[in-house]
Amino acid sequence: MPKRIYLHKTDSTNKELWRMIDNEASPEEATVVQAGWQSEGRGQANTKWESKQGDNLLFSILLKPVFLPPSMQFALNQCIALSIRAGLAALCKDYHFFIKWPNDIYVEGRKIAGTLIENRIMGKELSLSVVGIGINTNQTVFSNDIPNPVSLKMLTGKDWDTESCLDEVMKQLLFHYQKLQSGNMDYIRQQYLKHLWGFQKKMHFIREGQSMIATVLGVDENGKLLLENQQGTIKAFDIKEIQFDPRSFAE
Ligand code: BTN
Repeated sequence: MPKRIYLHKTDSTNKELWRMIDNEASPEEATVVQAGWQSEGRGQANTKWESKQGDNLLFSILLKPVFLPPSMQFALNQCIALSIRAGLAALCKDYHFFIKWPNDIYVEGRKIAGTLIENRIMGKELSLSVVGIGINTNQTVFSNDIPNPVSLKMLTGKDWDTESCLDEVMKQLLFHYQKLQSGNMDYIRQQYLKHLWGFQKKMHFIREGQSMIATVLGVDENGKLLLENQQGTIKAFDIKEIQFDPRSFAE
């Protein structure tokens, strides 16, 4: 059994796991570092990930996806997003959880989970991957600068056991990771599109400050979002080039 380490407090579980990797004999694949609170919880694009002491599920997993060439690292992001989505769907069956491109998990138009994946590439291999996951479980009040958060407790009105949530997400993660490891990319791609918000629908986006309507055709191998505009032009956008208009989640 891979190790699970619980820390009441740390700076960031991603940082903690990198320190373990760099300071000790490399921990086993699937080692988990979980924290009750992070003083420097990190989100994507240099943002902070805030979480009230003991309220939420905050953890990082070590993966060694040496079978994936670095050019295919988005497949790992897809695999992780699918696993969190499936875990939440299994825990909380009355709600529809979906993936907001590229790998946020949304429910009822609001963000419930986020992932920060940090990869280390050696030669032609994706040798190490620290997958940090934050799932809002019991927090009900968030600071105003967090856009549109929601937690399991806000959805259901009851308290959630973060350990059981971790067990379910880990179960899903090992299942989906095995698909990736065995080269079943079609499964990963199909499932990702099945749960991708707005897939094959016309959605509102914001591009260079301008509103735009486009149909979501999917994602390319690099993780860019493929959109078809109203004139029929197809273009791939990266995360810095396009944003969902909040209107897309209100519909
Ligand atoms: C996002 O911006 O959506 C990604 C958030 C990732 C947060 C998790 S919490 C556990 C792990 N440790 C961190 O410092 N960040 C990730």
